[in-house]
Amino acid sequence: EQIEKGGYDHFMLKEIYEQPNAIRDTYRGRLLADKGIIKMAGVDDNLDRIAKANRILIVGCGTSWHAGLVAEYIFEDMARIPVEVEYASEFRYRNPVITENDVVIAISQSGETADTMAAIKLAKEKGAFVFGVCNVVGSSISRETMAGAYTHAGPEIGVASTKAFTTQITVLTLMALKLGKYKGTISNSDFRLHLQALEAIPKKVAKLLQSDKVIKEIAATYKDARNCIYLGRGYNFPVALEGALKLKEISYIHAEGYPAAEMKHGPIALIDEEMPVVVIAVRKGHYEKVVSNIQEIKSRKGKIISVVTEGDVEVKELADHVIEIPETIEALTPLLTTIPLQLLSYHIAVLLGKNVDQPRNLAKSVTVE
Ligand code: G6P
Repeated sequence: EQIEKGGYDHFMLKEIYEQPNAIRDTYRGRLLADKGIIKMAGVDDNLDRIAKANRILIVGCGTSWHAGLVAEYIFEDMARIPVEVEYASEFRYRNPVITENDVVIAISQSGETADTMAAIKLAKEKGAFVFGVCNVVGSSISRETMAGAYTHAGPEIGVASTKAFTTQITVLTLMALKLGKYKGTISNSDFRLHLQALEAIPKKVAKLLQSDKVIKEIAATYKDARNCIYLGRGYNFPVALEGALKLKEISYIHAEGYPAAEMKHGPIALIDEEMPVVVIAVRKGHYEKVVSNIQEIKSRKGKIISVVTEGDVEVKELADHVIEIPETIEALTPLLTTIPLQLLSYHIAVLLGKNVDQPRNLAKSVTVE
């Protein structure tokens, strides 16, 4: 097992560090930036069917559901197709309105999650076109779906999903861009800009991983917290949810992810000097609004850990700790902002002596309903 961990203390840490390569492997052969095209067999063969969808319904569980939420922003932005994202377990047990004009995208790292599988079967019965985004080649879900695209993340062993999440977002971004180009809802220059920016992401992730030491120090400061709040807006709201999930899963600290603007409708009541609040405040996307959310936390003496864009000055003045991410275009920021949150929960769990790779009560693949 030590050999499989490749010199890392845990699979989770190894998998966090594998992300530059995993993202690159996921777009390799698909993203041809110099030619200005995206090739994805599963999408290319069904391009018209998917592009003409009345609606895209995304189903998944856990971290895969969070990737679906990020995709909602990307698909609506780039391809102008209405998107709904649902927990597979909720979708399957109600009487959802699905028509033949809907496209269902099922996201699953393992490709074996029982609830996601059941949702796919239901969608097929109703005549929808079902597309799979799986990591495990030949998995049940990859076989049950009508077309699909694999994330090429390689095996993910740690129960807390990391590289699966960023590679799912990579695949879904490629898909949204491809549809946007086909539909003409994204300009050629914007399309090319996004291709180049996506191609540059692995290097930026690698650079970001160098902040590990700073993040470890932050982890040491807050490891004894009983609660933690994560806030983000727009593209980074789902990242806040995912950051909170990571902390809950492996450190057993209660954490909540919230859209930053919703804080005033409830969670703000929880804020006092004991409460660490992780705020994603990248320069793109409602930056000024997030800054005022940070001010609200500060005036209630909450402790602020902020993920900012390199060179930020405003948030630095207010926050107790900042972690900088390299500049990129807004739609791609989740691929960067997620990384420090993964590392933060990893280090907190390690410092608390928890079993990082196999947290209590959780399983890597949930094949029961
Ligand atoms: C389990 C895992 C999570 C994962 C979820 C969905 O709960 O512990 O990490 O996000 O299942 O799994 P899937 O394989 O369908 O992505």
